[in-house]
Amino acid sequence: MVLPSTVSDQSIAQAAELLRQGELVALPTETVYGLGADASNPQAVAKIFAAKGRPADHPLIVHIASASQLSDWAENIPETALQLAAVFWPGPLTMVLNKKAAVPLAVTGGQDTVALRVPANPVALALLRAFGGGIAAPSANRFGRISPTRAEHVAEELGDSVACILDGGPCSVGVESTIIDLSTDKPAILRPGRVTRSQLKAVLKTDIALSPQTKIRAPGMMAVHYAPNTVAFLCPGDTFISMVDELCSQGKQIGVLTFSAQFAELPCQCCLQLPADAMHYEAALYNALRELDKMHLDNILIEQPPQTEVWAAVNDRLEKATV
Ligand code: TXA
Ligand code: MG
Repeated sequence: MVLPSTVSDQSIAQAAELLRQGELVALPTETVYGLGADASNPQAVAKIFAAKGRPADHPLIVHIASASQLSDWAENIPETALQLAAVFWPGPLTMVLNKKAAVPLAVTGGQDTVALRVPANPVALALLRAFGGGIAAPSANRFGRISPTRAEHVAEELGDSVACILDGGPCSVGVESTIIDLSTDKPAILRPGRVTRSQLKAVLKTDIALSPQTKIRAPGMMAVHYAPNTVAFLCPGDTFISMVDELCSQGKQIGVLTFSAQFAELPCQCCLQLPADAMHYEAALYNALRELDKMHLDNILIEQPPQTEVWAAVNDRLEKATV
């Protein structure tokens, strides 16, 4: 099994060489760890799908070193894409654009659009520069499972399938990038993330739809995704204690995930309290879900966050992680 390796100029150069040879390299990004392959090599990209157990028609994000490489992958690039790139790249924003003919269909799941992102993590950027091309990388987890936010999560789940895992420490953002579809003249958010709809609207000065406007498939939009193995419930704060009591009275072993100090002392097997502000909560969420999942409890009970825009990405992921 491959263990995470410390980052140095040498390990970056080796990882870039492995990518050139068509191997898989797990890399840190500021959102989550990615399972990377040479995006121009269909055989290498096929290894991603095999390692994840991911259906072949689910498209991947191509990571590039800078916006100047956009035209290597996309065509008919709208002005809006350049405006967003200038403000949010490098960063947790992915843009769906019309693909160039040369982009392998293996990368785009057979679609005529391609998803592109310049990640803000220094290790990811160093690897992209050393490699020179685009790195196709979904989150480095088995299909349908929780995305990895630490190198050891990748080792646990995919350590037997990768040639190398670059350890960049814990991811600072902690949930997957915001995805905006700019392939039609009606911009639409396909997946909420750290970059909010208001921030996007402020730059584009136009309304942005919240759901896909086309037939585009995005696995992140499936009802059950990012899920722990343990059955998890989302519960509003005002009914939280009665729900804990009810599950305990049924003899259930439960784990609790809260952000309110008032719930810190509940009579359950494990209570994890995350920060009460959305950004820090977001950064800690996936690790906390993994920790609770490892305890093999009957249920995980999650306190429902506020329904405000800063919590949009968290709420989206929690809805998908719970029944
Ligand atoms: O933050 C992230 O975006 C992370 C890091 C590694 O960059 N990557 C990530 O990849 O979350 P993945 O494969 O787990 O999710 C990529 C999402 C999927 O929901 C996929 O369907 C969507 O991007 N996507 C990719 N290409 C697309 C396309 N052409 N049209 C619509 N959605 C697309
Ligand atoms: Mg994923």
